[in-house]
Amino acid sequence: MTDLNQYIDNHKDRFLSELFTLLKSPSISADSAFNQDVLDSAALIKQALASAGCQHVEICDTPGYPVVYGEILKNPELPTVLVYGHYDVQPADPIDLWDSPPFDPIIKKTATHPGGAIFARGACDDKGQVFMHIKALEYMVKNDELPCNVKFMIEGEEEIGSPSLEWYVKNNHEKLSNDCILISDTGMISNSQPSITTGLRGLAYMEVSLTGPNRDLHSGLYGGAVANPINILSQMIAQLTDENNRITIPGFYDHIDVLPQEERDELAKAPFSLQAYKDALDLNDVHGEKGYSTNERNSIRPSLDVNGIWGGYLGQGAKTVIPSKAHAKISMRLVPGQDHTRIATLFTEHMKALAPSSVKIEVTAHHGGHPYVTPTNNIGYQAAKRAYQTTFGVPAIPQRSGGSIPIVSLFERELKSKSILMGFGLDSDAIHSPNEHFGVFNFLKGIETIPWFYKYFTELSNSTI
Ligand code: BES
Ligand code: MN
Ligand code: MN
Repeated sequence: MTDLNQYIDNHKDRFLSELFTLLKSPSISADSAFNQDVLDSAALIKQALASAGCQHVEICDTPGYPVVYGEILKNPELPTVLVYGHYDVQPADPIDLWDSPPFDPIIKKTATHPGGAIFARGACDDKGQVFMHIKALEYMVKNDELPCNVKFMIEGEEEIGSPSLEWYVKNNHEKLSNDCILISDTGMISNSQPSITTGLRGLAYMEVSLTGPNRDLHSGLYGGAVANPINILSQMIAQLTDENNRITIPGFYDHIDVLPQEERDELAKAPFSLQAYKDALDLNDVHGEKGYSTNERNSIRPSLDVNGIWGGYLGQGAKTVIPSKAHAKISMRLVPGQDHTRIATLFTEHMKALAPSSVKIEVTAHHGGHPYVTPTNNIGYQAAKRAYQTTFGVPAIPQRSGGSIPIVSLFERELKSKSILMGFGLDSDAIHSPNEHFGVFNFLKGIETIPWFYKYFTELSNSTI
């Protein structure tokens, strides 16, 4: 690869300063107050793709935030790689827990990232990782090293469940046709042990509201005689898991694909220290479904979590009150075999059955998404494995992740191609949390590894024709 490392070394300061400009734009898709900033980020992505040498770069309108599209079509005989990523970010809250402002990127050294890490919302998820692809493209175009066709599809609604992308994909089958989808929106095990994500969990995200009395009541005058919706909601939530931390919703575990023992053994080979895991989170002990390891609990097994619970008096001091209402947002991570619409129905029915007649209940479904697993016997996976071997000097191992990118299973259904999840973040990079960061090493290693993927993917495609 002509002067790849030299090119990265010569241009790395510019790469970082261009990424900083993108990170300064607070493209929070969940909050309409940031509407213009989301559009500004789309414009910056368009500009970056164009200056990297992309042709036909466009901002495509959708019912929601736009998709930025760009392509270089060299020759219809050559294979086509479709790069997917997102330019929207999670809200920065709670802002006071950030050590530096979330939209004012800064490089600081950490124990995990002695070469420095970029601190900003979106640094790792996913602007920094999208930017690696744009800079890898720039290198390939400028040095005549792009061996195949490439298309970019960067969306602005991933963090709110990609509500418009299904519409976009369904209406653009031909434009998006490809031989492999390449995504950097996940992580790897460590900087010395690269991994390729072979599984993502699905998601069913629900909201429950209970109403007791028609107004907040004096808890002395009514306490003991009227149902308190917060007490009842807590009891209902407590019943959703049993003493083995299994989820009690009837039918919840039906149809789950059981992983053969050899595959569990294979995944268990990944380096992992339970002590280091606990230390990093200041935990005395871990928690989860009986019979499974920590890594299995957060990847190949489903889970249920309350994301937020509210109601009643939250102000200063004490107010004696029985609240009229109680609310909770509850998400379930799903594994292959579980259908998120069916799980949403089972959850709704179960919560309704658990609610006593002393309260009224309302259950609504937010977004959902299907789980995804990639086989390792396809050329996309093999090309990624070789690319990591070339740049890290060690083979990448498969890793099932607990996170969700719901749109990946739609890509497979609609575009009939596999997604290769080549992520360069680390679990400790605090995505969605205060002080999100992305290692400078990881950013540059990504730029270095991606051109090798294109090279090996094109070679392997040619050899299988
Ligand atoms: N990039 C993440 C997903 C991810 C991160 C997968 C790390 C594997 C490893 C993505 O942006 C994300 O946050 N997805 C959401 C789901 C979405 C519907 C809001 C998630 O997993 O909570
Ligand atoms: Mn992401
Ligand atoms: Mn995210």
